[in-house]
Amino acid sequence: MAASIAIREVTKTFETADGPVHAFGPSSLDIQPGEFVSLLGPSGCGKSTLLLMVAGLLATTSGEILSRGEIVKGPRTDIGIMFQDNTLVPWRTVQGNIELQLELRGLDRNSYRDRIAQLIANVQLAGFENRFPHELSGGMQQRAALCQSLVHKPETLLLDEPLGKLDAMTRETIRRDLQNLWMSSRPTVLFVTHSIEEAVQLSNRVCIITPRPGRIERTIDIDLPWPRDLAVKKTMAFAKHVSTIQEIFHGFGVL
Ligand SMILES: Nc1ncnc2c1ncn2[C@@H]1O[C@H](COP(=O)(O)OP(=O)(O)OP(=O)(O)O)[C@@H](O)[C@H]1O
Ligand SMILES: [Mg+2]
Repeated sequence: MAASIAIREVTKTFETADGPVHAFGPSSLDIQPGEFVSLLGPSGCGKSTLLLMVAGLLATTSGEILSRGEIVKGPRTDIGIMFQDNTLVPWRTVQGNIELQLELRGLDRNSYRDRIAQLIANVQLAGFENRFPHELSGGMQQRAALCQSLVHKPETLLLDEPLGKLDAMTRETIRRDLQNLWMSSRPTVLFVTHSIEEAVQLSNRVCIITPRPGRIERTIDIDLPWPRDLAVKKTMAFAKHVSTIQEIFHGFGVL
């Protein structure tokens, strides 16, 4: 079976007023359908850059990215994406922002009414459907953006620190929901995070990225049982994965 996402010797260099900035690569990675893969690395190591290249929103400088065997040449509409910065449009409500994703894909919003209500309830935004983004907290905006990325049931999800602005308790709840969603419909997920624990809890593989220019230094299989609830997080095996990864970052001089 063709990999859901294949990253082949990809590099990215940005041209800036101060000269070229080598942001990422070269690195390669194959992600199989239904995998949950985290990109874990320090600030500025090129995680968002890589995600945007996978989405077809940014060109690679060298190397190529394939989606199910086809070279990605431009923006992809078959995926669900959540950007690091909030991308809700200010002139639409929560409901309207979620429906925008359907409109952009030519899907009939009426047939998604129940799904939208369910997604909104799952992220605890029921009652806020008709609020505009400026009437929401940062964490609420982030939860609405998560609904946006999921509404059209994409087979591939690209999530850039989707839980970054949430308080610890909400973060744990949404993590659990995300894990349940992944276990029930098995999308391919590429997930960016700074949190070692979050990566270990959610992923079947964690990619460790070096400081800039980021390269995928190692990928670690996380062979823990599912679902990874609080009980699993308290096990020795969980702690061992976390400490292995901490040691790798310590070796980079990051921790
Ligand atoms: N459009 C751009 N033009 C010039 N440089 C850029 C651009 N986008 C990113 N960079 C540079 O590329 C490097 C990687 O940036 P990127 O946003 O991918 O990092 P990141 O790993 O997502 O960091 P963070 O964890 O802080 O979000 C940084 O040095 C950044 O300054
Ligand atoms: Mg980023």
